[in-house]
Amino acid sequence: MRTQVAIIGAGPAGLLLGQLLHTSGIEAVIIEQRSADYVLGRIRAGVLEQVTMDLLEKAGVSARAHAQGLPHDGIELLFKGARHRIDLHALSGGSRVTVYGQTEVTHDLMDARAAAGLTTVYEAANVRVHDFDGSQPRVTWEKDGQAHELRCDFIAGCDGYHGVCRASVPEGALKTYERVYPFGWLGVLADVPPVSHELIYANTERGFALCSMRSTTRSRYYLQVPDTDKVENWSIEQFWAELANRLDPEAREHLVTGPALEMSIAPLRSFVAEPMRFGRLFLAGDAAHIVPPTGAKGLNLAASDVGYLWNAFADHYGDKSNAGIDTYSDRCLRRVWRAERFSWWFTSLMHRFPDTGEFGQKMQEAELDYLIHSRAASTALAENYVGLPMDFGA
Ligand code: FAD
Ligand code: DHB
Repeated sequence: MRTQVAIIGAGPAGLLLGQLLHTSGIEAVIIEQRSADYVLGRIRAGVLEQVTMDLLEKAGVSARAHAQGLPHDGIELLFKGARHRIDLHALSGGSRVTVYGQTEVTHDLMDARAAAGLTTVYEAANVRVHDFDGSQPRVTWEKDGQAHELRCDFIAGCDGYHGVCRASVPEGALKTYERVYPFGWLGVLADVPPVSHELIYANTERGFALCSMRSTTRSRYYLQVPDTDKVENWSIEQFWAELANRLDPEAREHLVTGPALEMSIAPLRSFVAEPMRFGRLFLAGDAAHIVPPTGAKGLNLAASDVGYLWNAFADHYGDKSNAGIDTYSDRCLRRVWRAERFSWWFTSLMHRFPDTGEFGQKMQEAELDYLIHSRAASTALAENYVGLPMDFGA
């Protein structure tokens, strides 16, 4: 088999890249190690930046996100027992975010791919990438007991943090930066109306909490838990009781509880691998970087990487220019590091750290107090939360 771009991984990065390339008439085959149902079963991100919505539109898959996504013009910060609104729309000069689940984005992309008759190989075992330092890269895998090979011009490594692409780069060609946080997020998805019509980010003595949603009838809640905690240690009743404890009295009164559709713990990590290109292998999304989830940048960064990569391939095949390919890594990393900084800062501001004690909490409260009263500080939060542009200028 031969194609122009071999995409490893059918997460949001791989599927979006496939769709964007299709609009430019560039052939791509996606190789995914899991089944489509497994990929759709992962409950992850929920907040889309305008940059991501624009890319979904360019890929021709934004109709449902526009119709069913919830536009949000603000968020609430809860600290010292009271909530304070940050007017994202006014402070960012008219931008907003859209609450629309990663599962739905993935669904829309899979449907579009199937409708266009494009090839995705699911349940591919032992996926390997070869010869990307030369001019004829290859991908090999096994399926149903048979060995397969795909020859291509380029490989897009969209295979997430645990994928094979970054791991295939020769040692020494890669520099990694990492910070692991001493806590995780215990998440619950439930068919109950959200406690508030906007997201609440809560800094409390008991730890961080986040009230989010997927629709007007489906809520997504998170609690900071120690990194040693296990989901088996929690019943749904304990979860609701702890969440109520971390809310202000009014929110507590409005909290509607119910059975969990899903409950899991995600670890928190900051991670960047540089560079994001090796010869004809390009890393995109979680394959190259991880942000802690506070501020919802993971999926959005995956989308902007893919936006740069699509432009690079379109220039290569269309204008016969390699400028986009040559600058891909630098352009991505500039936006990646800004999002890493914001996610690290927002995480540091909102969570209880075991080693900083009461002084640490006082510092956080003082910063939050400054944040809500300073237009400059709340503007900086709003600008980053709604998402930085893809083109920063020189
Ligand atoms: P992924 O979604 O990880 O997709 C990679 C794909 O590659 C997967 O389908 C995987 O099966 C496949 N793959 C892996 N290895 C191979 C291989 N060897 N061969 C072939 N295929 C392979 N972000 C937020 O903004 N908010 C959140 O609340 C949030 N929660 C999260 C919770 C968890 C548990 C995790 C892991 C992430 C969360 N994120 C969140 C981050 C966000 O979901 C990711 O940034 C986003 O999924 C990145 O997309 P991706 O396509 O780069 O990677
Ligand atoms: C969600 C996740 C986030 O990390 C965040 O900052 C906001 C919302 C969510 O899953 O809904």
